[in-house]
Order: sequence, then C-alpha cells, then structure tokens
Amino acid sequence: TAPSRLDPSCTTLTKFIFAEENRIWQSTGELTRLLNSIQMATKSVSALVRRGGVSHLFTHAIGKQKETKRKAIANEIFINMLISSYSVGVIVSEENPKPLEVDRDHRGKYIVAIDPLEGLPDVDCNTAIGSIFLILDKGDDNLPTAQDVLFEDNQITAAGYALYGSATTLVMSTGEGVNSFVLDTEIGEYIMTESNLKMPKKGNTYSINEGYTSSWDDLVKNYVNAKKFPHSGKPYTARYVGSMVADIHRTLKHGGIFMYPANKEHPHGKLKLLYECKPMAFIIEQAGGLSTDGTRSILDVKPREVHQTTPIFLGSTNDVREFLGLASKSV
Ligand code: AHG
Repeated sequence: TAPSRLDPSCTTLTKFIFAEENRIWQSTGELTRLLNSIQMATKSVSALVRRGGVSHLFTHAIGKQKETKRKAIANEIFINMLISSYSVGVIVSEENPKPLEVDRDHRGKYIVAIDPLEGLPDVDCNTAIGSIFLILDKGDDNLPTAQDVLFEDNQITAAGYALYGSATTLVMSTGEGVNSFVLDTEIGEYIMTESNLKMPKKGNTYSINEGYTSSWDDLVKNYVNAKKFPHSGKPYTARYVGSMVADIHRTLKHGGIFMYPANKEHPHGKLKLLYECKPMAFIIEQAGGLSTDGTRSILDVKPREVHQTTPIFLGSTNDVREFLGLASKSV
C-alpha cells in the first residue's frame, strides 16, 4: 500500500555525513571525507564477505588460512580507503603489528584504529562478523605520527561498526548520539533506520562464553549465578554468538550485559582496547549504557600498548551497575 505520505527526510549515510559537517564540525571537510571513505570500505568488505564462499576465493584455503586471507583483504581495503581520504595521519590495525604512518602526500589530522574483519573464530559457519573503527584527534595542528597513538589526551571524534549479518548494518556516533543505517544493496547506499538510538536501561540477557567458567574470578561467577538462579523473578536468557560485533549489537538493541572477563587463557582479557573495546564502549555510552573494565569506564583506560587487551563488561546501565555493585562488595 502506498505510504500515507512521502517521507522526504529519507536519510542516507552520505546525506547524514554532509549534514553533520555543516551542522557541528568546523567543516574542513576532513571528517566528511574520512567517514565517507569508511562507509565505502564497509560496502566493499560486505561484498567480499558475501561472495567469499561462492567466488572460489577461498576454495584452496582451509580453516585458519581462509580466515587469514579474508582478514588480509579486508585490511587492504580499509587501509587504501583511509589513505585515499587525505584525512588520516596514522592507522592502527589489528592486522598490522605496528602503526602505519600515512605518506606525506596523503597525510591528514586523524588517527584511525580499525579491526577490519572481526569475529571469525568460527570461519565458514556463516556467522555474522563485523568491522570496527575508532577515530581519534590529538587536538593540535601538528599532523599525528605513530608516537601519538598512545597520547593519553587523544579525543574520540567518532566510532562505529559494520555488522555483516542477514543485512549489512552500520552503527556510528560522532559524539552526538548513535545512529543506525542499513545497506540497501539495490542502490548501494546506507539508509538511516534509527536516529539517536537509546538502549534499554535494563535487559534480561547476559552474554559471556561459559566455557571459561572454571577460570572466572568469584565476582563474575557470582554475577552469572545470580542471573541464572535469581532470588526472585525470572532467570536471564543466555545469548553468546562468539562474534563481538554481533553480541554487542544485540546488547545495544535489546539491552542486557556483554562480558569478556580475564580468564586463564587471556589473563588480561582477549578483546583489544583500541580498536574493539573503546569503539564499542563509545557507542554503548552514547546510547545511554555503561562500560567498564571492572574498575573504570573503558573510555578512561589509558592505552600503554597498541594491541593491549582489556577485560570488558558493557551494556544496560542497571545491569552494569548491578555487576559493579557486586564488584564493590567483593573487595
Ligand atoms: P578474533 O579476533 O580471533 O576474530 O576473535 C573474535 C573475538 C570476538 O569477536 C569475540 O567476542 C571473541 O573473540 C570470542 O572469543 P571466545 O571464542 O574465546 O569466546
């Protein structure tokens, strides 16, 4: 049936980015070029992921080789798009051991940290996977160098992720709330589906890999038990995909808590601070939720090393506060 009225405000991500440039940024155009380059990279990686199985790109690769190949191609796509935006000075990627300083001709003011393709432990199971990005500004007029990546006063200009699931969804914040877009593959544009998205104050889902129960500290064990065997009310539901972007997107939309604590295999946590935890914490906190490493907001954790990991607990305000309340009791 025809819509009751045409919706002239049908917003694409491209329109949104240009509108934001005029609305809030000192419009040098660098952030506009950068965000448009990132959206282009996610469209290209989405096509790579969706054709991966049928394009015989991986038929001769097996298991880990498939994962490595797919990650390497996604990394190259992102790096090329970031360099061609003329807005980036340094790129940190999960796939590169050291930060990449962009050549002088292309260098711009931003530091960008990326996980180009994340969530692949179960390669070949058609599990939803994603790309994550963090845009940092060192806040002065000098172009950034590799040493500035760990500069503790770097400010987060924007962060977001693309989720390659049943649809390709891009969720992003420039510090003025969270907006969500879905890729319309017919026209090759991301269409805005949610503006200023706010997450539920409390959920009924906990998300953690219970295979590590034996190596959790008592705080995590007591919290998860309290969710499974409450004194009153219904138990929480357990949901764990094992793909960070998928697990956190569900938490953002439906509420609850996502946890990747330290365990025997990962004594400092498994998830990477700069290009996995900080971007996700930025999104969750912009949507009205909370994040913590157990003692402070993930956004307040100072990176000491580019590929540093951290324990992470994030989600609905009331759920994270309940977890922290237990934490304060446990000291
Ligand atoms: P990778 O970085 O090797 O792709 O691993 C994915 C991450 C993240 O997506 C997910 O939350 C976590 O690993 C799952 O790890 P476990 O299998 O240890 O639960």
